[in-house]
Amino acid sequence: MDYWVAGFLVLTAGIILRSRLWFRLRKWKTRDGEEEEQEKETKKAMIPKGSLGWPVIGETLAFIACGYSSRPVTFMDKRKSLYGNVFKTNIIGTPIIISTDAEVNKVVLQNHGNTFVPAYPKSITELLGENSILSINGPHQKRLHTLIGAFFRSPHLKERITRDIEASVGLTLASWSHLPVVHVQDETKKMTFEILVKLLMSISRGEDLDILKLEFEEFIKGLICIPIKFPGTRLYKSLKAKERLIKIVKKVVKERQMATTDTVRKTSPANDAVDVLLRDVSDGGSSDTPSQPLDFVSGKIVEMMIPGEETMPTAMTLAVKFLSDNPVALAKLVEENMEFKRRKLESGEEYNWSDYMSLSFTHNVINETLRMANIINGVWRKALKDVEIKGYLIPKGWCVLASFISVHMDEDIYENPYQFDPWRWDRINGSVNSNVCFTPFGGGQRLCPGLELSKLEISIFLHQLVTRYSWRAEEDKIVSFPTVKMKRRLPIRVAPVERTSHIPVEDH
Ligand code: HEM
Repeated sequence: MDYWVAGFLVLTAGIILRSRLWFRLRKWKTRDGEEEEQEKETKKAMIPKGSLGWPVIGETLAFIACGYSSRPVTFMDKRKSLYGNVFKTNIIGTPIIISTDAEVNKVVLQNHGNTFVPAYPKSITELLGENSILSINGPHQKRLHTLIGAFFRSPHLKERITRDIEASVGLTLASWSHLPVVHVQDETKKMTFEILVKLLMSISRGEDLDILKLEFEEFIKGLICIPIKFPGTRLYKSLKAKERLIKIVKKVVKERQMATTDTVRKTSPANDAVDVLLRDVSDGGSSDTPSQPLDFVSGKIVEMMIPGEETMPTAMTLAVKFLSDNPVALAKLVEENMEFKRRKLESGEEYNWSDYMSLSFTHNVINETLRMANIINGVWRKALKDVEIKGYLIPKGWCVLASFISVHMDEDIYENPYQFDPWRWDRINGSVNSNVCFTPFGGGQRLCPGLELSKLEISIFLHQLVTRYSWRAEEDKIVSFPTVKMKRRLPIRVAPVERTSHIPVEDH
């Protein structure tokens, strides 16, 4: 009987214990579930607010309409006032988070931990290929970036390229004065392409340059197009042009490879980007190259033509446009450059890179042009995992657009942002955090390696233009979609002038 009682007691205790355990487990489970739910809710609440618009097309039409207007930033401003500095939308079928916040943009650009990768439309990725310098991420991108950046900043190149740019600009401007009308956008494009090709592979004016230009133009027509690839489509034609382009470049690279002996490599500095890349390949620097070094180098040269090809002429064209509309700024620019020319004539010295860089008002004009032009209005990235920035969540797989134009045209940062005011850069004098609030060349890991070179090129162009010529611009309008350009390609009439002394300018 005692056994029965003992057994009953053990059984009851067991049942009580099990049920308590079960309850506790359930409680834990519920708590885990609740925590998970809560975490999900918190994360959801951190996703920037906004509207995804209509099915499929999202808010694309409003985005494009603003791009065609005189104030492309209206799209962002409207949503910023409704949802805050960082908001979500849907453009061209892609849900996207747009940041108009300078600090959020900075974190996206710095990209610590490689959480973001560049996100381009499909047509661009098709044309660039998977391993393009513009789309790769991680150590390989870093290495190429450092290599090219170091070459673009090297004293040897600076000296050589200054002379090359002066010569190209001189010849181009001289030809302008014989033309009844000059379309600045087209003519600067020819000139900057010539300089770019010289920098990349030392090809000068002539038949080779003309063929290269023809094929390159056909190639880049497909950068923004419907990504369908069969004979007859735009993308197909562009891919074929790329093949022909690579073939021409490969010939140049091969000849250079054969002419570059070990002694040449060791004793003379690299003259152009072909030299830099070939030497790196021979030193075993680029891990994925040994099997096809010629293809690798030729591909990289073609890719490097893309970011400089349209940005440079656009910057020059818009500088001419803004100066034409602002005679006081133009007079001050003439004054500074005439004074500089006079000093150089007196000393009999050649102009060098640092001379051009020391022209402070000229650089104010360049900065103000780049701020207002927003040639690259922002950069697109894709998040590889959930990223939290300043309390906002960018969920894994989402695209983010770090909008530079919104920051450059923000009246809380720049007083009267729509006014072309080169003097503002003297007044700002450190009060605007220029690393964060002024990013025409991007920043962080992918900061444009052509930054200094671009500024030099624009300085030389402006110097020669304002010290030797005068011009009258016809009425024209800036369009910002799909890329920044002048609606009528900025027609001007140019005449040579004999400026003897500086023109005094009233204080601004
Ligand atoms: C006014 C002229 C220019 C502007 C406004 C400009 C702007 C930019 C911007 C914003 C980026 C960053 C893109 C990103 O983060 O995804 C960039 C990258 C780049 N730029 Fe420029 N650029 C200019 C001229 C040039 C020139 C003349 C070259 C010379 C070849 C050049 C070569 C490059 C290259 C190779 C990259 C890619 C860097 C990388 O991803 O590692 N750019 N540029």
